[in-house]
Amino acid sequence: MKSAAAVVVCLLCLLGVAAAARDYVREEEMALNPVHVRLHNDDLGQTTWMAGESDFFQGKTLQEAKALMGTRLGGGANEGEAVRTFDHIDDGDIPDEFDARAQWPGLIHPIRNQEKCGSCWAFGAVESLGDRFAIATNASSPVLSPEDLVSCDELSLGCLGGFISMAWRYIESVGVVTERCFPYAAGEGNAPPCPPKGQCVSKSAEYKKYRTSDHYRLDTVEDIQKAIMTGGPVEGGFEVHQSFMHYKSGVYSREWWKFWDPELGGHAIKIIGWGNQNGTDYWLVANSWGTDWGLDGYFKIKKGVNECDIESSVYAGDPLLA
Ligand SMILES: *[C@@H]1O[C@H](CO)[C@@H](O)[C@H](O)[C@H]1NC(C)=O
Ligand SMILES: *[C@@H]1O[C@H](CO)[C@@H](O)[C@H](O)[C@H]1NC(C)=O
Repeated sequence: MKSAAAVVVCLLCLLGVAAAARDYVREEEMALNPVHVRLHNDDLGQTTWMAGESDFFQGKTLQEAKALMGTRLGGGANEGEAVRTFDHIDDGDIPDEFDARAQWPGLIHPIRNQEKCGSCWAFGAVESLGDRFAIATNASSPVLSPEDLVSCDELSLGCLGGFISMAWRYIESVGVVTERCFPYAAGEGNAPPCPPKGQCVSKSAEYKKYRTSDHYRLDTVEDIQKAIMTGGPVEGGFEVHQSFMHYKSGVYSREWWKFWDPELGGHAIKIIGWGNQNGTDYWLVANSWGTDWGLDGYFKIKKGVNECDIESSVYAGDPLLA
């Protein structure tokens, strides 16, 4: 699926706020660098993760890879958003390890692939929402439509990017339909038009909006954990550097690559748990780059140190049950 695995532009460039980073990124350079992979893996005593070359980024330039990082972080994106705390749960009741797939067997939806569209912000949102509906009802629940957000949420720029907070605002106020109702069609980088209100793109599907009763930001490591263990996966965002695209296994963190590891932009994902591997605390995360990338589509990233800002833009909402 090499052809279905590339990219376009990034919102940061559009907004012109990343001029310095943009100059630093040599855009025609290939996203994957076999020399980095070899040097990194030779240095394993010094690092907590293994690098590799995935089909997903094979043959893509850094410029193409940047277009996938369609999540706008920082710059006031979290301003004014309600923060949810879970003070009624004792910190001591947080388990050392948690994996939503083991906690709720059969209820966590599989890894998806955003392809060439900068729609990670939409995938992270509807994927955690779908899991949260399944968990709240203790029954399998349909795959939800990222295309609904990409094509219909007017506060976003579709394949050119979006805000995590705005995605959850849309989910609370409007809601999203199922994947069957409005299938993902933006994979080549162009979002189809929003269908008329009340109509599915595939006529045989049932029209139903999945909404939340609220949406909120999670501001501490403990509150992120408590939100996941009580309600299910949450959406998070972080800054992607070139090294991250080479992740294969272990616990990711920026290490010696930091000196020549350009920042590509914001990326949104679904956090499903946490744990400790060889003495390093990590978040367990579902990506939307297909199952060929990373640990069958998942990755682990250092927890508790706000690695690449992963703990700064975490959002969820409570499913509105009929
Ligand atoms: C959820 O459903 C499963 C399988 O149907 C059942 O075994 C389990 O007890 C249920 N859990 C709760 C909390 O109701
Ligand atoms: C963790 O430690 C074990 C035993 O020392 C080792 O075999 C394994 O490769 C380590 N894993 C990582 C990801 O470093």
